[in-house]
Amino acid sequence: MTESNFFSKSYSKEIPDGKITWQSPSNIALVKYWGKKKNQIPENPSISFTLDACRTTTTLEFNRLSSPGNDFSFEIYLDDEIKEDFKPKIKTFFQRIEAYLPFLKDYHFTIRTSNSFPHSSGIASSASGMSALALCLMSIEKELINSDVALSAVERSMDENYFNQKASFLSRLGSGSACRSIEGDLIVWGKHDKIIGSSDLFGVKFPDKVHDDFKNFHDTILLVDKGEKQVSSTVGHNLMYGHPYADDRFKQANDNLAKLSEILQNGDLKGFIEIVESEALTLHAMMMTSLPYFILMKPNTLEIINKIWAFRKETGLNVCFTLDAGANVHVLYPDKESDTIYEFIKSELVAYCQNGHYICDRIGFGAKRLM
Ligand code: PMV
Repeated sequence: MTESNFFSKSYSKEIPDGKITWQSPSNIALVKYWGKKKNQIPENPSISFTLDACRTTTTLEFNRLSSPGNDFSFEIYLDDEIKEDFKPKIKTFFQRIEAYLPFLKDYHFTIRTSNSFPHSSGIASSASGMSALALCLMSIEKELINSDVALSAVERSMDENYFNQKASFLSRLGSGSACRSIEGDLIVWGKHDKIIGSSDLFGVKFPDKVHDDFKNFHDTILLVDKGEKQVSSTVGHNLMYGHPYADDRFKQANDNLAKLSEILQNGDLKGFIEIVESEALTLHAMMMTSLPYFILMKPNTLEIINKIWAFRKETGLNVCFTLDAGANVHVLYPDKESDTIYEFIKSELVAYCQNGHYICDRIGFGAKRLM
């Protein structure tokens, strides 16, 4: 697959208006993507669990313009409130994807979006938000192709695999990690020799059989700091240009993905913990050793990590943590040990959360069309 596979077939653009709703989840990386090349191509491959409870619902209304202008015509609402400050990001997204969706300037779009998690939770909504919007746009493209009488019956049908791949490809152009939110439950993004079908252009399902212990994994997200991100991911990825450890880091991520691929198949929970925690700490180490440098953990992030380590040593249970580019902690654990671990989280860890807030999430299976 190359980028040219995602250019559109011609369509006669006969649909005057309509409304589409998709719900798309967030995801949490196990091997982290940190550093990118031109056109949102990752410097290293990554793998994530798709989440379930943390999601964005987006309704896209589209009305055909009587005379298409030179610019994109759209407005965006978050929870029924117009968001002028979201427009530049959406405009950049439209500019990047216009070549693949040539109908974008023919319509006025009203984007209505809401998140299942609070806006100020420190949880980024770019993965769920960009993927939900990309899926709505893909549904319009599908309708346009379906209704194009100039095409043959075969040309008019779009199979699910292509639909998902192109939705992931477009999501990537909005926010890299968003390409891992279309499907579940384990998604790889970035070319890796050992992962069949993997691509830098879109996310693919982890192709091998996954051990039962890695099904239904839990992710309890401890909200340590609910403020705006201190470092945006755009700034963060740019820190990897000229970073003294960049080449070693990209190689390590490749090696970790190869190891994790084996572990996911053979059910080695201890091996899983080692890679996942090392990846989280390495991500933060990259930020501490870049110029400018940042410490994104808070004292309570470290308190939680130390408590998890002590509890694991004492009980031998398979609980571990991972981190995003922020202070919140994702506590990961297998379903078969979830009762005891959840009790531990409530009694020992929630005290370190801002206002005691946390989100109980678990592995999910991807986006859903609602309307
Ligand atoms: O998709 P972006 O550009 O917001 O980058 C996400 C980076 C991390 O969340 C830190 C890691 C990852 O792989 O999701």
